[in-house]
Amino acid sequence: MSDRVPSSVEEAGFVFVDPAAYADEDYFHRACALLRKESPVHWVEGPGFNPFWAITKSADIFDIEARHQIFLNEPRPVLGSEVDDARRQQNGDMLRTLIHVDDPEHRQLRNVTAEWFLPKNLSKLEDVLAGFAKRYVDKMAEMGTQCDFVRDIAMFMPLNVILSILGLPESDYPRMLKLTQELFGGLDEDMQRDGDPAAIIEVIQDFFVYFTKLTQDRRAVPTDDMASVVANAMIDGQPLTDMQTISYYVITATAGHDTTASAMAGGLLALMENPDQMERLKNDPSLMNTAVDEMIRWVAPVKHFMRTATEDYEVRGTTIKKGQSVLLSYPSGNRDEDAHPDPFRFDVGRSPNKHLSFGFGVHYCLGAMLARMELKALFKELLPRLKHAELAGDPKWMKTIFVGGLKTLPIRYEVTAG
Ligand code: HEM
Repeated sequence: MSDRVPSSVEEAGFVFVDPAAYADEDYFHRACALLRKESPVHWVEGPGFNPFWAITKSADIFDIEARHQIFLNEPRPVLGSEVDDARRQQNGDMLRTLIHVDDPEHRQLRNVTAEWFLPKNLSKLEDVLAGFAKRYVDKMAEMGTQCDFVRDIAMFMPLNVILSILGLPESDYPRMLKLTQELFGGLDEDMQRDGDPAAIIEVIQDFFVYFTKLTQDRRAVPTDDMASVVANAMIDGQPLTDMQTISYYVITATAGHDTTASAMAGGLLALMENPDQMERLKNDPSLMNTAVDEMIRWVAPVKHFMRTATEDYEVRGTTIKKGQSVLLSYPSGNRDEDAHPDPFRFDVGRSPNKHLSFGFGVHYCLGAMLARMELKALFKELLPRLKHAELAGDPKWMKTIFVGGLKTLPIRYEVTAG
């Protein structure tokens, strides 16, 4: 629990460019609360970053995301350093995933798997998810009375789900786990490859090598996995380019992994810190749907996305000029007093719960339904078997400015055998 307080709105605005600020959630939320009150459309000129407007009110984020013809993902979908921006301007994006593109390319690409992510297809996965959940709660029981819930449990279940969906062999899972962590943890010295932020380029190259082979294999012998859908898809009568197929696998493998793992670990911590809510959910499992959405609101594993204006647009009396970028702060929107009654209360029965953790509009998270199903499967298995849980050390948060959450959650517990 940090008692650090920002001394001014200027200082508060720097949380978005400071990976360490996200690792101090109390400070981060204090800074966002100040911005929502004093400067909800706030110009940030952080050292080493090209400037942008930070948008911290929920209604403004929804409004901007809804206007996808004015606010584009290209050329700056995610905040990167000045150096990253310059490199991208010179060489283009190393990957062109769904989040890097706008209509009409975006719609065409999204359509490739949109059906695959529909409830009627995903419902076939219920048993697979229940199986993974049992496997990991059994693992907790086997480990005895203590584990690091992030590193031993939460990191693995979503990765297994994604990789089994993509159809990769289990023997490759450890390699994918390491690569996705290196990709997203690029700003945290414990997660970086060789402790070197520049090694991110090698990480992306490794993804390329691995996934090029996957496309070749699935074109030669299609199976019923998602990789086969992508490898054999046609847009305007043409197969996807190597860049498009690889980008598709990378976005699925990465977007569906650390995000869901963070929601699981942060969800458990929130239940432990709010024992009345833990008891309420245990006693009334019909609250599982609202509880899972509350965990996702609470954690907001994706810290922001960005958009760039194609014309002048006014937000709360401030003009976003054509060519300027906005950073949409999802964790801030999720704690906005005007959008959520008592937003700092963790309430497993919260309804309605119009949170922003999955974004909104045409880029709304493709895996939202799957992520919810995974969390439900895990907590449905865990809670009836969890007789006791307490912290066995200080939880630590990842230093990041994009995707993240708990890096370690040491717990002491009693879990019954399955
Ligand atoms: C709790 C877990 C998750 C969170 C918090 C999350 C959050 C997000 C957010 C905020 C976006 C951008 C939305 C926007 O720009 O408006 C997004 C996009 C996306 N997510 Fe997720 N996600 C999660 C899990 C997953 C899973 C499990 C998958 C897939 C297996 C997935 C696949 C994607 C894809 C493909 C996109 C790009 C969609 C597009 O640009 O059209 N996500 N996600």
